[in-house]
Amino acid sequence: MEKKVSIIGGGHVGATTAVLLAAKEMCDVVVVDIIEGVPQGKCLDLYESGPVVGFGCSTVGTNDFKDMKGSDVVVMTAGFARKPGMSREDLLKANAEVVKSCMDHVIKHAPDCMLLMVTNPLDVMSYYAYKLTGFPKNRVFGMAGILDTSRFRTFIGMELGISSVDVQAMVLGGHGDSMVPLASSASVSGVPVPQLIPKDRLDAIVQRTRKAGGEIVGLLKTGSAYYAPAAAIVQMLECLLKGTRRLLPVSCYLEGEYGVKGVFIGVPTVLGKKGVEKIVEVEMAAEEKDLFQKSAGIYKDNLKHLPL
Ligand code: 2OP
Repeated sequence: MEKKVSIIGGGHVGATTAVLLAAKEMCDVVVVDIIEGVPQGKCLDLYESGPVVGFGCSTVGTNDFKDMKGSDVVVMTAGFARKPGMSREDLLKANAEVVKSCMDHVIKHAPDCMLLMVTNPLDVMSYYAYKLTGFPKNRVFGMAGILDTSRFRTFIGMELGISSVDVQAMVLGGHGDSMVPLASSASVSGVPVPQLIPKDRLDAIVQRTRKAGGEIVGLLKTGSAYYAPAAAIVQMLECLLKGTRRLLPVSCYLEGEYGVKGVFIGVPTVLGKKGVEKIVEVEMAAEEKDLFQKSAGIYKDNLKHLPL
């Protein structure tokens, strides 16, 4: 096919992303993992589903990073997942090592790609990858906002007993407990959510959204979420490959937008063929503005733990 996406990491997130991508037949898919046989086995199994599902794009599993050559996008999912009781920040040191070794391969084999980061702690690892690769800031960004927003929309839909597809909302800030679900501007088919849900219930939904990744870790016990993360990755890939220029919350490098500098954090962006084509500054309620600034401060502080 014309487009090629390589996924580093053939675990639950990487493999589920490959399945969803292949079903949409948007690009050829390569999954790279260091465990011998696993990416090959998963991708052959996936390829063998093509005649039934109805796709003909190639799905190749490999242990050789050279196979990323010519990728339009590289999705970085490799790294350790949280165990119950851990915060995403607890993963910083171990995952920084994984990111470092993988970025060496990205620089060598796919120097012109767009880099979609997924490894946690997401905002810090995105910053690290940006610094390590030296890629322009539009080509390095992280997936978190769409996932957190999808959870927020789901919980609003559950509360109202309606399809969450009709819920419009945005979650900004860092991908951790300090994230900022914008309750003030959430709506259901244009009707403001604060008119539909009492404040105490809406506050509880905001709190559940902040802890939603941990809720899944607590249930699974041996890993973290993957269906919703993979769906969010694929939505971003669709924008990047087709140039649909949708307005989506994405972790990207700020240079003064929202009064924040030198940090990766989730903000509304226009995603298109060139990656982050625009950062959009939206109005927030005073309390949300305050929480956003606090979240940016936390993630700026975390950067000092990186081996740069
Ligand atoms: C989550 O929120 C894994 O950070 C990811 O589920």
